[in-house]
Order: sequence, then structure tokens, then C-alpha cells
Amino acid sequence: MRALGFASYFPLGEIAAKTACHLRLTMHHKNMTDKYAVIGNPVSHSKSPLIHALFAQQTGQDISYEAIEAPLDGFAATIERLRKEGYKGCNVTVPFKFEAFNCAAELSERAQTAQAVNTLSCEGERLIGDNTDGAGLVRDIEQNRGVTLQGRRVLLMGAGGASYGVVLPLLTAGATITIANRTASKAVELAAKFSGVTGGSYKDLAGMQFDVVINATSAGLADSAVPLPDGIFAPGALAYDMMYGRETPFMAFARAQGAMVADGLGMLVEQAAEAFYIWRGVRPETAPVIAALRG
Ligand code: ATR
Repeated sequence: MRALGFASYFPLGEIAAKTACHLRLTMHHKNMTDKYAVIGNPVSHSKSPLIHALFAQQTGQDISYEAIEAPLDGFAATIERLRKEGYKGCNVTVPFKFEAFNCAAELSERAQTAQAVNTLSCEGERLIGDNTDGAGLVRDIEQNRGVTLQGRRVLLMGAGGASYGVVLPLLTAGATITIANRTASKAVELAAKFSGVTGGSYKDLAGMQFDVVINATSAGLADSAVPLPDGIFAPGALAYDMMYGRETPFMAFARAQGAMVADGLGMLVEQAAEAFYIWRGVRPETAPVIAALRG
């Protein structure tokens, strides 16, 4: 009865024409929407789709951004498929940042120094690799935490992938860097890539003080403490953990020592903003996005 009434109001021909018009509009819209993604394994927990959706909304950019899990042995194939499907760019997360580095035909200086890529741009057949992690860290420390790095004594804990990504941007910001690592030889090796950077073990830190202490180790994942001596924080020092989502033993220690404490959520949003800027040429405001993520 209802169907009959509907048909008498909208003759079939008109419905077909309306539908065709709607489809054309949808297809037109689809063609306009530039596609992006974050690739990782696992990746379902990633906050990047939400962050980029908020950036797109705020700046009026017509993009889509999804999380894609690549098989552990299938990163290159996944990137190749996305490129053929017309994706404009990807963020790359654990464990593929080194593979992304190897896939890129062109690399920025900061990606070369980091020996890792977290942002890929597809320009026709070519993949351009960049690394925005260090810029994100520096921006979070300076803009959001109000700590100038110029001339500051910075202790970087850890000599794995996370540390490799941030040394050059910290140096460029004017910091004086000491790297400490459980396996001291790795800290020495990383430090030797830069002039004026020293590396060693945690024991070497006895009697030293720092204005900014950055935890780039994965110790917090296992709820382990990093063996820092008492008195390591200069008055008013910033203790920065690249992890976010919970209080790590490093953060608890720093709090007890009277340091100002920051987690890595701001860095996550800032590295995303830097990637958004590379792709879209527009720099989103990060403060409202960080606030939204903190809920
Ligand atoms: P990522 O890419 O996240 O940096 P990684 O390359 O595996 O991961 O490096 C992990 C870093 O955390 C290393 O510097 C590691 O020290 P070692 O080189 O001695 O292994 C550091 N790390 C992990 N667990 C730690 C712990 N319990 N105490 C101190 N350092 C730790």
C-alpha cells in the first residue's frame, strides 16, 4: 500500500534520474576525497584516524584516513597496493618504520638521520619518505610545555628506534645532548653520529644534572624503571616520557624528584600535525585536538 502510494508520487523514471544524479554526486565526491592511512601491526589501537579526522574537520580539508594492518611480511606489498589505489600518503608505525625507510625513493634529511620513516607521500610512482617524530617532540616540548631547548642540557634515555628519530631535531633546536642506555655501546654508537653529543651508561650520569630528561626507552611498557640517580633533575626540569596512556615508573620517579612531568600524547598529535602539513600544506591547531584526546 505504502509502496504504491510512493510510486504514484515519484514515477519510476524520476526516481531513476534522481538516483543516477545522487550516484554521480557520490562518485564525484569520492574522486575529490584524498585517501590517507596509517599502516602498522597491530594498528587497531591507533589514535591517528581520530587525530586526522579532527584536523580535517578543523581545516576543511576533504580527506579520508583509515588504519590498515599490514601482514608482518607484507609491508611493501601493502604500500604498493595503496599507491596503485590512489592513496596520497601514509603514516607508518611499529614495526614498519625501517621498512618504510627502505621503500622510499627519496628521503628527507631528518628521515635519513633517523634511519626510519613515519610519513610517506605518494607522488605518482614515487614514494617520498619523511620522519616527523622528532619535530613533533620538539614542538610539544617548546610550544605546548613552554620549555625552550636552546642551550638546555638534555638527557635522552634509550638508543633504539625512538631515540634515533629525535636526536637531530633536538640538536637543531639548540640542545646539548647526552645519551644514556642500558647497553652503553649502543648509546656511544648513536652519539658518535653527531658532533658534540656524548653517550654512555646510566652509571656515567652520577653527579650530573639536566634541564630536560626524555625517556625514549621501552622500559615503561614492562612497567620497569630506568636506573636514574637521585638529583638528576635540575631545578624546574622537565621529565618527558614518549609513552602515553598511563603513568610509567619514570614519570612517578620524576614526580617524586620534583620535576615537571609530561607524557607523549602531545608528541603523537604534533607528529601527526607535521605529517598533515606535509600532505596538505596546512598546519592544524593541535591544542584542541590534544584536549579532545585527553577527554
Ligand atoms: P624503540 O624502537 O621503541 O626504541 P628498541 O629499538 O627495541 O625500541 O629500543 C628499546 C630501548 O629501550 C633500548 O634503548 C633498550 O635498551 P637496550 O639497548 O639496552 O636494550 C631500552 N630498554 C628497554 N627495556 C629497558 C629497561 N628495562 N631498562 C632500561 N632500558 C630499557
